[in-house]
Amino acid sequence: MGKLIIDGGERISGDIRVQGAKNAVLPILAATVMADGTSVLENCPKLRDVDKTDLVLERLGCRVIRSGNTVTVDTRGMCDCRICEDLMREMRSSIVFLGAIITRCGKAVVSMPGGCPIGLRPIDLHLKALSELGVDIQEEHGYIKCSASKIHGADIHLDFPSVGATENAMLAAVCADGVTTISNAAREPEIIDLSIFLNSMGAQIHGAGGNVIAIRGVDKLHGARHTIMPDRIVAATYLAASAATGGDICLRGVNPRDMDAMLYVLREMGVRLRCEKDKIIQTAPERLKSVHTIRTMPYPGFPTDIQSPFVALASIARGTTVFVENIFENRFQNVDELIRMGADIKTEGRTAVVRGVKELQGANVVARELRGGASLVVAALAANGTTSLSGVELIDRGYENIEKYLLECGAKIRRE
Ligand code: EPZ
Repeated sequence: MGKLIIDGGERISGDIRVQGAKNAVLPILAATVMADGTSVLENCPKLRDVDKTDLVLERLGCRVIRSGNTVTVDTRGMCDCRICEDLMREMRSSIVFLGAIITRCGKAVVSMPGGCPIGLRPIDLHLKALSELGVDIQEEHGYIKCSASKIHGADIHLDFPSVGATENAMLAAVCADGVTTISNAAREPEIIDLSIFLNSMGAQIHGAGGNVIAIRGVDKLHGARHTIMPDRIVAATYLAASAATGGDICLRGVNPRDMDAMLYVLREMGVRLRCEKDKIIQTAPERLKSVHTIRTMPYPGFPTDIQSPFVALASIARGTTVFVENIFENRFQNVDELIRMGADIKTEGRTAVVRGVKELQGANVVARELRGGASLVVAALAANGTTSLSGVELIDRGYENIEKYLLECGAKIRRE
């Protein structure tokens, strides 16, 4: 496993243009298969998860060409409707291909995606929405076999505003016979970005970003060109890294309006923030203040994906912060690595009590999943001494070239 070696204590200050959003580009790449033609995606981040999704597209018979941050997908050669087990197990977010492949081919076969370190990750809401649209679903031998002679419009209600289930329902409904409504839909900005791309392909989607999405089925979609939205979680991670080290940072190419809950907490912790149209300028105090309680919630609440980096931030703040993780059942597992660095954290189920300490110490730590790994980077940058962080491949799933951006902001960091 690759490592990041970080000598902590340097102020993280400078200027970063934030990458495109992983959680927008993945469903949008899946959506390209619904048109028999070529789509061009700009501001596409260079991530392991994007590479894996490109591989799924190629296994389906599509051509994928990357040039810098532009990815071109030509789906005219698509000749398969199955996603094999190894790819599904490696990248569970491929489940969102289900709705897209069914729309294109009238059938799809994927292996059960399985869980991941942060939780069981069931897909019952995905399958319920697809079956309400008229998709016949057989689950056998660990595979999900879907077929639909004709997908018809339906009034879908999601028991929980699941991001993936909302996306799968949208992808399966865009060419359905009739009108579909999705109520209690996920409201994340990435859902809006997907709907913008789908409408540019010729779909008729209204209300994305609200809790009821209406989709009028159309006969056919065509390829389209789209610029991926900025990654709000990566942006907040860099704000946390700078705030943890008392730095001053400017983020460009961001959308501050997507980040209200995270910026609110940062302000409560004592940073000064100035937001412009596509820019955020942050100045951090010598030492942050704790926030009483942080609860993760579906958008527009505090995002679960930034919980781990903010636990690292709270671990050196003055005072105690209580985190309640309401979205995933196992998202505090990087806490024991933070404790190795001197953090004072007690977890009990979905709650973590973080008592701020004056200083963390560098140590040998291991990343076990993407955002926990990012949390250890934030801690290592603030720690006194050197940290050897193994499992950097997990961080590469969601952060493009993390050491390059941090180096440019004064970090002493290298990849081994
Ligand atoms: C998306 O995952 C993101 N991934 C996650 O980001 C993010 O944490 C999550 O949304 C919540 O915002 C991508 O977009 C690729 P959910 P998803 O369906 O769609 C339960 C990261 O670090 N649920 O909204 O899988 C589920 O168990 C990743 O970038 C069901 O019960 O999340 C969880 O408790 C991690 N049944 C909750 O809903 C279902 O059928 C939220 O899941 C589906 C979900």
